[in-house]
Amino acid sequence: MHAVVTGGAQGIGLACAQHLTSIGWTITLIDKDLELLEQSSSDLGCQYAQVDVTDLESVKNFFSEINPVDSLINNAGIWRPQNLEDLDFDDQEEVLNVNVLGTLFCTSSAMHHLRTSSAGSVVNISSLAARTNSPGLGLYAASKSAIETLTKQWALEIAPIRVNAVSPGLIETPGTSGNYKGAAKEKRAKAVPIGRVGEPSDIAKVVSFLVSEAASYVTGQIVYVDGGLGAGTTQR
Ligand SMILES: NC(=O)c1ccc[n+]([C@@H]2O[C@H](COP(=O)([O-])OP(=O)(O)OC[C@H]3O[C@@H](n4cnc5c(N)ncnc54)[C@H](O)[C@@H]3O)[C@@H](O)[C@H]2O)c1
Repeated sequence: MHAVVTGGAQGIGLACAQHLTSIGWTITLIDKDLELLEQSSSDLGCQYAQVDVTDLESVKNFFSEINPVDSLINNAGIWRPQNLEDLDFDDQEEVLNVNVLGTLFCTSSAMHHLRTSSAGSVVNISSLAARTNSPGLGLYAASKSAIETLTKQWALEIAPIRVNAVSPGLIETPGTSGNYKGAAKEKRAKAVPIGRVGEPSDIAKVVSFLVSEAASYVTGQIVYVDGGLGAGTTQR
């Protein structure tokens, strides 16, 4: 089985690629960062391509040339936290372009592969932010709400290809490491019912389940992998 992981050069995407490789999948990483891609794909021994998911022509070319694909993991995502009264519109446009249009471009361009696979599936990476209504997130949370809506819509449109989403909570990655410096990590961990900040592998294990035969009757679902953070708070 062959999976394409977008934004796969580091963090959650790379962890998905590592876990799937460990259970026998063939992986192609795509990312816009060539240096990181070369390093990660060499460590993993997998194929890679430099693709910016917001560049439709580049995405189309990639999927027209690649070997048959069974699963697409739409993981590439960015965030530009800003308040409504202090917005940089270019930043926010970029968030929509990567998180929503990037996911749309990749899924649409991969359809001919997913249709011909005997077990085609898509996993979109959303965020707990889609349902926590936190201030100061610019369009990030809204972009992930869009992803959750599209996950269900596409599950209806393209069945029997399965489409699910995984919504991570607090996960320490190269992209979020600044949030976990010094005492901040322990403080954040205390808010999580499970009692720790998540690791990329926590997400990868659930993504691997969702693309597997074990999840062959699971589609249109949003799975929150957040240590219980979205269920409420342990502090009264
Ligand atoms: N880390 C968290 O706490 C957390 C929580 C909720 C959701 N998420 C989501 O998980 C996904 C991965 O997050 P992460 O923390 O691993 O991020 P990260 O910043 O560590 O890695 C993201 C990767 O995506 C790549 N990328 C960014 N824009 C791209 C583009 N236009 N085209 C191709 N590649 C691009 C980057 O080069 C990078 O390699 C994102 O969608 C993010 O929104 C993360």
